[in-house]
Amino acid sequence: MLHSLGLLTIIVYFQFNLSFSQGNELPYMTSDVKEVSGKLFDYIIVGGGTTGCPLAATLSQDFSVLLVERGGSPYGNPLVIDKRYYGFSLLQTDEFSSVAQSFISKDGVKNHRGRVLGGSSAINGGFYSRASDAFVERAGWDEELVKESYEWVESRVVFTPELTPWQIVFEFGLLEAGILPYNGYSLEHIEGTKVGGSVFDNWGKRHTSADLLEAGNPKNITVLLNATVKNIIFHTNDDAGKETETRAWGIRFIKSDGSSNKIHEAYLHRPKNSSPWGDVILSSGALGSPQILLLSGIGPQEHLKDFDIPLIQHLKGVGQGMQDNPCIALLVDKMPMNRLPEPPQVVGIADGLRFIIEAGVAPISFNASRMPIAAKIAFPVSRGKLELQSTDPRQNPSVEFNYLEKDKDMNQCVKMAELLERVAKSESIALFLGLKPQEKLMSSTDELRKLCKNNVRTYYHYHGGCAIGSVVDDDYKVYSVNGLKVIDGSTFQESPGTNPMATLMMLGRYQGIKLLRQRRDAPSNL
Ligand SMILES: Cc1cc2nc3c(=O)[nH]c(=O)nc-3n(C[C@H](O)[C@H](O)[C@H](O)COP(=O)(O)OP(=O)(O)OC[C@H]3O[C@@H](n4cnc5c(N)ncnc54)[C@H](O)[C@@H]3O)c2cc1C
Ligand SMILES: *[C@@H]1O[C@H](CO)[C@@H](O)[C@H](O)[C@H]1NC(C)=O
Ligand SMILES: *[C@@H]1O[C@H](CO)[C@@H](O)[C@H](O)[C@H]1NC(C)=O
Ligand SMILES: *[C@@H]1O[C@H](CO)[C@@H](O)[C@H](O)[C@H]1NC(C)=O
Repeated sequence: MLHSLGLLTIIVYFQFNLSFSQGNELPYMTSDVKEVSGKLFDYIIVGGGTTGCPLAATLSQDFSVLLVERGGSPYGNPLVIDKRYYGFSLLQTDEFSSVAQSFISKDGVKNHRGRVLGGSSAINGGFYSRASDAFVERAGWDEELVKESYEWVESRVVFTPELTPWQIVFEFGLLEAGILPYNGYSLEHIEGTKVGGSVFDNWGKRHTSADLLEAGNPKNITVLLNATVKNIIFHTNDDAGKETETRAWGIRFIKSDGSSNKIHEAYLHRPKNSSPWGDVILSSGALGSPQILLLSGIGPQEHLKDFDIPLIQHLKGVGQGMQDNPCIALLVDKMPMNRLPEPPQVVGIADGLRFIIEAGVAPISFNASRMPIAAKIAFPVSRGKLELQSTDPRQNPSVEFNYLEKDKDMNQCVKMAELLERVAKSESIALFLGLKPQEKLMSSTDELRKLCKNNVRTYYHYHGGCAIGSVVDDDYKVYSVNGLKVIDGSTFQESPGTNPMATLMMLGRYQGIKLLRQRRDAPSNL
């Protein structure tokens, strides 16, 4: 006992020293809206999530940054940090303060999103896998900078997992079902069975994207927690003789706990002469970013009229094209047990990257968990939309994904469910669970179709609503207004293969570097 305590002290001391000697420190964080009210910043980032944190860290190298997050701090919160409580945050939700906010899409499918610094990387499975080369090519990104940005993320928050017995057995199940080749540990998105990275370290501690803030200039980031952005402040210049220009000047925000109706404001620095301006950047996620644009008067005119929101810019793509990858999950255990929760560590990538299969142990209550194997369709074609339900920014917008609406998706689902069944009924898994061979009968196509129709659920990779080419341009600037960008999962037309978190962390870093380069190259007087 004494001996192990001593060892623990040494480890803690060592870790502390290591981070201390690298000069890493978290930026200033406050939940006091008055401290930020009326202040000016070079950049204002709305949403301290998966993409917002690496973006803020990067921009702080040259500029002053305000990062506004509606939730609280992840530090010291066991629901976020402790792997033994993985999945518990999804069971403990309330309307305005829990770290996970639940929502039910109009399709009737239950879903979640993060509401804490670190965003959905603080409540998710932590499985880390890069996008495929084809995805990077389609996005038109600079391959070299993409690689550097992934590496920047990986050196800080990504770990090689030590496989649990269940993950090893699942791996055998995938191989037995023919998901080949075996690629071992790899961060690349390639066909076959592999072990991915994880944001959980091997001491069982989660590293959210908030940890990436330590890589920034702590003196130039202010993190405002527990504050919800209501809308963007615009200024329209209509001086005679000049072209009219609508530009984002700042943000309006309220306390997230609803204890006061007072609206506060923060502004972008307005450079004298004609030096370049900074931006307001929305990184509020696939539900949050389109919601804030709509609340700010940017979106389909008719929809804004229904809520008496003054029109700033008619932009019909806002909230359109929402997509969630359809998922089918099979429980392989016969009944709930009290196994410790396990995030996914292994993945099967099959059928030309079209199907993704993972397994874990998911808690269903505080002393019971189940063992699902879940598969997603990587490139569905059905799409839906997002609309406001209220003008309160703390309420969920309404969202509909139209899962499996198109025949193509339904046909793929049947094929995927068949593969899923082959994995779930593999001998390796049957042996592990002590099941008898006669239970191996496979379902008919009709049965699989029914399974898809009645059991479709989320893999939590929903995206869209501010898609590139319809709401933002290739520089992530919102069309027709200046000083306003959106950088997060709402800009994706398709989910990047396996799991989006890696690519969203990368994107925050990548776009931050691009902005720094553009500003360094820009002549200071145009
Ligand atoms: C349960 C679950 C499990 C998942 N598992 C995995 C996995 O294992 N691997 C993987 O790669 N992906 C996984 N994902 C998906 C992945 O986590 C998300 O796609 C990704 O984190 C989204 O990043 P984002 O930056 O777009 O948004 P988010 O990370 O959600 O960030 C948005 C942030 O904006 C804040 N915000 C929103 N509105 C406002 C406002 N008005 N004012 C102020 N702040 C606001 C939110 O609180 C949040 O912090 C999972 C997701 C969930 C929900
Ligand atoms: C913060 O950024 C500003 C640019 O707006 C810069 O002038 C200032 O020196 C930076 N401050 C620190 C402490 O790095
Ligand atoms: C911020 O919000 C979180 C979640 O609601 C809460 O636990 C925390 O106490 C709040 N912090 C402050 C300083 O208000
Ligand atoms: C969980 O606790 C409840 C109530 O204490 C008990 O009835 C149930 O059997 C427990 N479940 C498991 C899987 O241990």
